[in-house]
Amino acid sequence: MAEFKEISADAPMSEKALTWIDNRFPLSKLYKEHLSEYYAPKNFNFFYFFGALSLLVLVIQIVTGIFLTMHYKPDAALAFASVEYIMRDVPYGWLIRYMHSTGASAFFVVVYLHMFRGLIYGSFRKPRELVWLFGCAIFLALMGEAFMGYLLPWGQMSYWGAQVIVNLFSAIPLIGPDLALLIRGDYVVGDATLNRFFAFHVIAVPLVLLGLVVAHIIALHEVGSNNPDGVEIKAHKDEKGRPLDGIPFHPYYTVHDILGVTGFLLVFCAIIFFAPEFGGYFLEYNNFIPADPLKTPAHIAPVWYFTPYYSMLRAITPEMMYALIFCVLAAAYLGATRANISNTLKAVVIGSAVVAVALLWAIEAKFWGVVVMGGAVVILFFLPWLDRCEVKSIRFRPDWHVYLYAIFVVNFFILGYLGIQPPSAVGERLSQLGTLYYFGFFLLMPWWSTLGQTKPVPDRVNFVAH
Ligand code: HEM
Repeated sequence: MAEFKEISADAPMSEKALTWIDNRFPLSKLYKEHLSEYYAPKNFNFFYFFGALSLLVLVIQIVTGIFLTMHYKPDAALAFASVEYIMRDVPYGWLIRYMHSTGASAFFVVVYLHMFRGLIYGSFRKPRELVWLFGCAIFLALMGEAFMGYLLPWGQMSYWGAQVIVNLFSAIPLIGPDLALLIRGDYVVGDATLNRFFAFHVIAVPLVLLGLVVAHIIALHEVGSNNPDGVEIKAHKDEKGRPLDGIPFHPYYTVHDILGVTGFLLVFCAIIFFAPEFGGYFLEYNNFIPADPLKTPAHIAPVWYFTPYYSMLRAITPEMMYALIFCVLAAAYLGATRANISNTLKAVVIGSAVVAVALLWAIEAKFWGVVVMGGAVVILFFLPWLDRCEVKSIRFRPDWHVYLYAIFVVNFFILGYLGIQPPSAVGERLSQLGTLYYFGFFLLMPWWSTLGQTKPVPDRVNFVAH
């Protein structure tokens, strides 16, 4: 327990109040540790706005969500009309609803940029593995939160999107059909589904998200922030133990982040007031039609932030299974013919490949589509152990690494675009190639990240005062 501080009777009221609190709760200690004496590298750039912006959007979603819940009815017979009521009759209901629907897309924009920053500057590498792992868990929770929230307006896309995705679970061998039934609470998506998704969307997942975000920041503040140069600022400290290249988070970055917040709010408000549907990307047009279990829409597509993964799901056709089998065999061949592994290990590699090929052959492609879609997110958890490059930041990696990263981004956009389009022969082939690149990028990373000539990493961060 910390020492109990005495306070003189003639001290100002504010000081007395703070000391009273500090004797019972570590307020000043937390303020110092996380704000005024948290030394962040002085060379943060544009990409470092997105952590704070993710926090801002989280708060916007929680606050607007609370107000929406005051008038929303989680009942299959009333849900659609209650959303229309919010939009037309509740004072400023339209604003709250558009803030929430735009906020969902904004969340993914800022989180994708935030993750991209981590990827290019090697922020997931030692000692920040746990920061990254909590981040990946946040991303998974966020996807669940968005998926369940999308059912609530009970429009055609809400209904059929949920129907398609929940049905995917039934492709899992043995437990699939029961699992899908458990998720739906019925044989088709219905009132029971709406009720449970509502419960998860408004309380269960937000609690998990909040807990994970706190853990994410505590883990980050334990090890300290990375920076665009990927140089550890704690390696050079002054006589008081402060990193030479660090500046106190408050006031420097609190003020700096106001710039990011202002820019973000300008765009956010412009969308809310002038283009809330955002051409059907933020609010799909089909979702203005009430859910009709008897009428399947001609084209069912998820919201834009899920479409890269949806493309990967659709890429796994029976034909694609041959490509996957070829990949497993090629990997096994390369593994088993490596000179420096024992015979026992060789036997394990060959045995595992035989089992993998048998499973790929025996189980329907739909299931593997689900595995690939889930695997595309799960693989992110392994990134800290896949990247073996000597340097962290993209700035000091060989130039061709930069091209691989650039192709990765373009590929992700193409997959996203294809996921919105109706199925086509060309689209299918492209999404198959895109899926192979996506997985190849990560699975072959332990090999390619060690290749090429890295550039010399400076001892201290690069910073030009402006
Ligand atoms: C609700 C979502 C999230 C919130 C509120 C959040 C918040 C933050 C904040 C405030 C920071 C410190 C400021 C900054 O470096 O930008 C940070 C850093 C970081 N976050 Fe997140 N984050 C979220 C999601 C994620 C996700 C999905 C990932 C990755 C999968 C991730 C990975 C990281 C990493 C690696 C850092 C350290 C970056 C560095 O030091 O260079 N975060 N996060």
